[in-house]
Amino acid sequence: MSDRIVILDFGSQYTQLIGRRIRDMQVYCELLPWHANKEEALDGHTKGIILSGGPQSIYAEGAPYIQDYVLDSGLPILGICYGMQALTYKLGGKVLQSTEHEYGLTELDVPAANPLLPQGKQIVWMSHGDHVTELPPGFSCLATSPNSPFAAMMDEPSKRFGLQFHPEVHHTQHGEEILRNFVLRICNCQPGWTPGSIIEESVKAIQLQVGNGRVLSALSGGVDSAVTTSLVQKAIGDHVTAVFINTGLMRQGEPEQIEQVFRPILGDHLIMVDASERYFAKLAGVTDPEEKRKIIGESFIREFEAAVAGLEEHEFLAQGTIYPDVIESKGIGVSEAHRIKSHHNVGGLPKDLKFKLIEPLRSLFKDEVRAVGKALGLPPELVWRQPFPGPGLAVRVLGEVTPERIEIVRHADAIFNEELEKADLMHMHIDKDGKISGSSQAFAVLLPVRSVGVMGDQRTYSEAIALRAITSIDFMTADWARLPYDLLARVSNRIVNEVPGVNRVVYDISSKPPATVEWE
Ligand code: XMP
Repeated sequence: MSDRIVILDFGSQYTQLIGRRIRDMQVYCELLPWHANKEEALDGHTKGIILSGGPQSIYAEGAPYIQDYVLDSGLPILGICYGMQALTYKLGGKVLQSTEHEYGLTELDVPAANPLLPQGKQIVWMSHGDHVTELPPGFSCLATSPNSPFAAMMDEPSKRFGLQFHPEVHHTQHGEEILRNFVLRICNCQPGWTPGSIIEESVKAIQLQVGNGRVLSALSGGVDSAVTTSLVQKAIGDHVTAVFINTGLMRQGEPEQIEQVFRPILGDHLIMVDASERYFAKLAGVTDPEEKRKIIGESFIREFEAAVAGLEEHEFLAQGTIYPDVIESKGIGVSEAHRIKSHHNVGGLPKDLKFKLIEPLRSLFKDEVRAVGKALGLPPELVWRQPFPGPGLAVRVLGEVTPERIEIVRHADAIFNEELEKADLMHMHIDKDGKISGSSQAFAVLLPVRSVGVMGDQRTYSEAIALRAITSIDFMTADWARLPYDLLARVSNRIVNEVPGVNRVVYDISSKPPATVEWE
């Protein structure tokens, strides 16, 4: 079992980011709510504790606080923002309550060499109201900023540190180095959380849980279910049966790719169901987005049940639940807006199916899932697939869903994707100056709007395609991608020329909020 860092969450929107930064160092970390009990937080492998930021004042009624076991553990502690204030308060220092918020970039001055912060002036990201005005006994000041006399503090013998700013946020100049200093030097964690070790531990855990039993797995065409199935297959061979329901609402080449990747390893244990006609029949005449989602969600469950009837000896079901789902269900790093979205999330199986669940990706972030998929030998196009909604292309065809309209959007989408791939813009990239390029998700939407056009000498009166491309870290907020005009021109030209039934292409320049990523 690897060394681990525990992050106690005090409610900051950046808590997940701290976790991702630490996992990037190949060190295992877990995010727990601030009120987690001692047994959860201290398991013998914990080498240090990070106290996250949070939106409250420590003086607010019912405000989160540091439990005694955290200090009694004797482990190194790093308090970030609210975490620093809570630590100060708990240890007898003073925190000034303030209604004024310091938000944004500021210059930090670190006058002397120390174990945590690089010496000298540097830019950091601040977001706080309250601040420390008197250090707790035994602490010294490590850094100042124009608005914070104690922007960082340390009690070296007990390895306790506090930062008023956020090292996990990309804009903090030496943020990564600061976190590395804490995790690798001060806590002395040994990096060992690699795709290879994750696979090894996961295979052992699946074998232990399943024994000689049999497992069903639902392949959706996406990354998570593919990696889950592949891991389970590696662990228990032909004791897994995978089911893929072709809804007719998939992206171009998706069902074929599933067949190509999984038939050779699963043979007869891959069940491919072509349910497209049944889906189109149920969707005929339906234009309301919520109604579409409901029909598709329910149909999936019915199709899955029919496909596995007769496979009663399969008592386990493999699910592609990933770490962000797990921590969000504990209320960590969840905004109100996100709760609203996941509420109408469809495309999965209900919780009350009579299966025992196995969830091998439960502790992995998305980028770790991809790294594991790559190490398992899955093809890059599958491993790097962008997110795709459960209801598929049906929510990207506004108005009625017909086979013809789905084909139009699928074709336009494939062209957009092909051109982005050629231009190497299918993934979001942040350079060292913080400039963002590429896209986190990009797709085509068919609009139920006819407009007049002219092709050759002919007047046309056809529908329009909207191109949507966004950049986002967590998909809770998103900005529209600043794609190059030349690329947009090429895509527009190709769509109008190659996709019958489309005579106009527009580019969606809305951010989320107020818009959502999908149009329905
Ligand atoms: P919205 O449109 O809510 O989308 O801004 C945020 C992210 O979630 C994806 N999405 C879904 N994923 N089932 C899913 O598995 C769904 O029903 C669903 N609806 C939206 C969307 O593609 C984007 O990545």
